[in-house]
Amino acid sequence: MTTFTLAYLSDPYFAPLPPPRLRDLMSQRVLGYLNWRRNRDLRHSRAIADALVADVKAQAPGHIAVTGDLVNIALDAEFRAALDWMHQVGSPHDVSLVPGNHDAYVSSVYPHGIELWSDYMRGDGASNNAALTFPYVRRRGPLLLIGTSTAIPTAPFMATGTLGQPQLDALERILAQNKSAEGFRVLLIHHPLRSKRRHKRLTDAPALREILRCHGVELILHGHDHKHSLMWFDGPAGEIPAVGVPSASAVIDGKHDPAAYNLFRITHDNDAWRCDWSVRGYQDGRDGISELRAQRLVGA
Ligand SMILES: [Fe+2]
Repeated sequence: MTTFTLAYLSDPYFAPLPPPRLRDLMSQRVLGYLNWRRNRDLRHSRAIADALVADVKAQAPGHIAVTGDLVNIALDAEFRAALDWMHQVGSPHDVSLVPGNHDAYVSSVYPHGIELWSDYMRGDGASNNAALTFPYVRRRGPLLLIGTSTAIPTAPFMATGTLGQPQLDALERILAQNKSAEGFRVLLIHHPLRSKRRHKRLTDAPALREILRCHGVELILHGHDHKHSLMWFDGPAGEIPAVGVPSASAVIDGKHDPAAYNLFRITHDNDAWRCDWSVRGYQDGRDGISELRAQRLVGA
């Protein structure tokens, strides 16, 4: 009986933002840029993100998942800086990425901006020159990683995401062909499957929840909300945990969850999956990165 460790982090929003050119701001970017200067500039730190990655690597996980929002306003320089950071996180074989809404911030750069990160979003067997397709499927150890894209350019002040019918259909086919016995199925998705804020929601979440209710996965990982989160959704053999995490670069400001990441230790024992979850990160009143929470998530 061996244990496989999956690490999970999200929403690093690299700071500092490279200086935009005037013509870069002639779009929705101007609102995002003002928002960054007013709020996020002070709330995110590259040093924090780097420390978090160093702590992840010290745990020697078998694989690392990242669920998007690597950039802020989708400047070319941001995509390149994010790629450098992804190389720091690990090789494309060892790290799986899905994009977030900020990675498709303006329609003029979508999808070619995220194509710079293609190696981290390619399913097993896809050739190096193949166009990006979602969902992608990767097998790593006992894991079956299913990476989706909810990234779509949106109107100003909106941060919604959409899978779309082709992805929903493909996801249903993948899950019908890969039951729980085939692997510990992990759904990677930027937007949470339930949201109180309409302007930040996944627009086709009901359809996704219905597919999961019929076919199930073992674990859902999402970003977008920038906070510690555990929700449960109906599956065919019980409830499915959905875990969210704070931004990987969030500073301690007393108002928002500071940077953290998750570790999942997965074992297959007596024909059943077991998954132990621990959260490591920063916390108000504590020095450095430490374990914040540990509990069994799947299995007896
Ligand atoms: Fe987001």
